[in-house]
Amino acid sequence: MTKLISPFKILARDENSKARTGILYTKHGMVRTPVFMPVATQACVKALTEEDLNYVGAECLLSNTYHLYLRPGTEALKKLGGLHNFMRWNKSILTDSGGFQVHSLSHLRKITEDGIWFKSHHDGSKHFFSPESVIESEAAIGSDIWTCLDVLMPNSAHKADLRRALATTKLWAERAAAHYKKIVPEQNIQQNEDGSFSVGHSILFGIIQGSIYPDLREEAAKHMARQDVHGFCIGGLSVGETLQEMNTAVEATIPHLPEGKPRYLMGLGTPIEILECIERGVDMFDCVWPTRVARNGQAMTSEGKVNIKNNAHRLSEEPLDKNCDCWVCKRYTRAYLSHLYRAGELTSHRLISIHNIRFLIKTMERVRAAILDGTFRQLKKEIIEKYK
Ligand code: GUN
Ligand code: ZN
Repeated sequence: MTKLISPFKILARDENSKARTGILYTKHGMVRTPVFMPVATQACVKALTEEDLNYVGAECLLSNTYHLYLRPGTEALKKLGGLHNFMRWNKSILTDSGGFQVHSLSHLRKITEDGIWFKSHHDGSKHFFSPESVIESEAAIGSDIWTCLDVLMPNSAHKADLRRALATTKLWAERAAAHYKKIVPEQNIQQNEDGSFSVGHSILFGIIQGSIYPDLREEAAKHMARQDVHGFCIGGLSVGETLQEMNTAVEATIPHLPEGKPRYLMGLGTPIEILECIERGVDMFDCVWPTRVARNGQAMTSEGKVNIKNNAHRLSEEPLDKNCDCWVCKRYTRAYLSHLYRAGELTSHRLISIHNIRFLIKTMERVRAAILDGTFRQLKKEIIEKYK
């Protein structure tokens, strides 16, 4: 087993499930878990500014090595003082290694044992990512939480191919962890007397693959548990499998991971999916869903989904969500938001995005409080009723 400590303090565990609440410490402060991380793929959460993100209570953003490497370029970012300085965000940032984007966006991928060749989706130029080069890119970006390069396969792939891809992901995680150790000074994480941590450098998360097969998930989780990483990403999910298949994959993964390190399910999700995963022991989430549907006129509210395009809202002087504390709900009517949307005003994207992210972050605040006072099951039931 690895001796490396993770700057993660668990504050409470739910008695009736695997849910827990805690604090992950990074070089930019605290991330309270369970956490929802807004997605800032290209150094920006679509339609929002850093001021908006602070307002809604975001503590960690998700950005992306593939996108930033291609534009503005990791060397440019390094010259500009790193991603935090570039986008004026001074809380935590986690970077996806780009394994997913290389597979979903780039053209002509060629995986070798050494790494992956791909062509940019912008201009067709040819590039190479290796487990080591991705760590170097993340160092140039300066994100707080780095992730290892992984190999992604569609869930419909043959099991033999999934097994081969997993073997490569495992090897690459070992290489990424070795490279991390090479460039990060030792002793950069210290536990203080009150149980909090002082973190002097970026930390590293491994990515667990294995598709929807419990045996592959178990193999992947056991392997990653032995690596010198500070936390775990659960990848390869939220790509078209059923909720049942996702739950099974998570259940086959979590029991093989050490309790004291955080777990992040990549690319999830809707309130229901998030709650199912929290119940199974997942701590961190990201998803483009709240901002993507916002740009399509959809809001998530305490009463369930609201579609601002619906005629019923045209003359409504109600707020988007009467139980929401965000300034959009305090200031504007559904009639106004409905008008902005119909008129094609970009401000509607911004306002509904602010509300949707605040709604999800507030939901996480309620979840953390419920885990602390032993009422998580009740809260889960209550929220799921509204979203069925
Ligand atoms: N984002 C969503 N799923 C994945 C995954 O499996 N790997 C990576 N690198 N990013 C993801
Ligand atoms: Zn609101």
